[in-house]
Amino acid sequence: MAIKYDAAIATEIINQFGAAPEMLVQVLHAFVQRYGYISEEAIKQIANELNLSRADVHGVVSFYHDFRTTPPGDHIVKICQAEACQAMGSRALTAHAEEKLGIEMHGTTGDGSLSLEPVYCLGNCACSPAVMIDEKVYGRVSASDLDGLIDACGESQ
Ligand code: FES
Repeated sequence: MAIKYDAAIATEIINQFGAAPEMLVQVLHAFVQRYGYISEEAIKQIANELNLSRADVHGVVSFYHDFRTTPPGDHIVKICQAEACQAMGSRALTAHAEEKLGIEMHGTTGDGSLSLEPVYCLGNCACSPAVMIDEKVYGRVSASDLDGLIDACGESQ
């Protein structure tokens, strides 16, 4: 669940990195850790306090897929896209998930319950294809396994 933005806390986070422009990526990671995403409000404040333009901050945010700019869903489903998982059908599994949820990778369902994200190796290659839901990793996930896992997320709301 996303935490409400607080400008004073945002300044504290920025100051933890010495308000140094070269620490922009680390500052952004810290914001994602706290808020789950980088809001437009955050981009404005980060740019001001690091003495950068908003375009500079936007450029870095859009370069890294980890930096989402919309609030994450209550549950995050990550499907491994790295080589071993691809060889075992993670692309088809991804297409199945996109169709089931009616969203694309990096998207969030309309009710805000679930986000779909790619991940590049979960260290579970021997049990490909691998999926991580919230912090839990699952191996050898078939389309019907994934349906069950996604449905279980809905039941745990
Ligand atoms: S390639 Fe998917 S877990 Fe390693």
